[in-house]
Amino acid sequence: MRYLTFALAKGRLAKKTLELLEKIGITMEEMKDPDTRKLIFVNEELKIKMFLSKASDVPTYVEYGAADIGVVGSDTILEEGRKLYEVMDLGFGKCNMCVCGPKSAAELLKHQEMIRVASKYPHIAKDYFYNKKHQTVEIIKLNGSVELAPIVGLSEVIVDIVETGTTLKENGLCVLEVICPLSAHMVVNQVSMKMENERITDLIYKLREIINR
Ligand code: PRP
Repeated sequence: MRYLTFALAKGRLAKKTLELLEKIGITMEEMKDPDTRKLIFVNEELKIKMFLSKASDVPTYVEYGAADIGVVGSDTILEEGRKLYEVMDLGFGKCNMCVCGPKSAAELLKHQEMIRVASKYPHIAKDYFYNKKHQTVEIIKLNGSVELAPIVGLSEVIVDIVETGTTLKENGLCVLEVICPLSAHMVVNQVSMKMENERITDLIYKLREIINR
């Protein structure tokens, strides 16, 4: 039997993903050590390998088959637009992709004005403004702390994830429009889905049972 390799997005989703996998008997003891600098972990008994990568790299590893299976937020899946199968919503990591800004920016959105939109998600932002709203905007790609942009005058609005809304509130910003709901999803490499169909469908089946319980 060959190894089945999992790529997990490091950060907020990783812990919950490991907890979920543990419930169906997939354990990775070494991975729980918070001080480890190891990048890849193996469960010899189950013939499973697992690694943590930057969320935005998970779809890349899965598309190229370096990982058979990936767990990552649907924001990243949408943004990356990779060729892979999105097989299930894992039901955690729920949040929304939103257009946010100061209250005063609502008028600019209403009147289809030419505005600047800062985001870590330029493709999602572009798709929303161009294809859904038919509004021409300038998109500015940032890599984090996007809420700063409207505060310091880099952009009028941002497209970003809102979970609790605390970051917005503490910075005097609000949700102006909701683009779509997000959550952690499982993705599968298209060739792996065929070659390892039995193992992967068994895994999906077991996860569904736990999630729907
Ligand atoms: C995300 C997102 C928001 C925040 C939303 O940022 O970009 O800034 O979380 O969460 P809240 O609604 O619960 O406040 P993250 O912490 O991933 O960091 P970064 O965007 O600065 O990289």
